Amino acid sequence: MDSYAGYVTVAQVEDVPPGTCRTVEVDGIFLALCNVDGTFRAVDNTCPHAGGPLGEGCLEGELIECPWHGWRFNVRTGERPENPEIRVPCVEVRVEGTNVQVKVPLTL
Ligand code: FES
Repeated sequence: MDSYAGYVTVAQVEDVPPGTCRTVEVDGIFLALCNVDGTFRAVDNTCPHAGGPLGEGCLEGELIECPWHGWRFNVRTGERPENPEIRVPCVEVRVEGTNVQVKVPLTL
């Protein structure tokens, strides 16, 4: 039985201003939640290079830069621009009122 399907609130809109990102947690899984000029995106928080925390990185447009060694990922597609075969899983996000919600269960 799937008693936890739908969307869960992970932040308030004002918690993540445009051009910023932060780490959020859902059921023990960490995500990098990003506000790309008013559109919210979320990707797996774990950088595929060496496990750096993407949510603590910098967001520039649609690109988030890992704080450890600078690998960048497009938070809309998950792809690394320098090598699109390397990617981070993306998570569906929606805004309901002031709530930023991600689709669960997560399928990372
Ligand atoms: S761990 Fe992210 S760039 Fe190295």
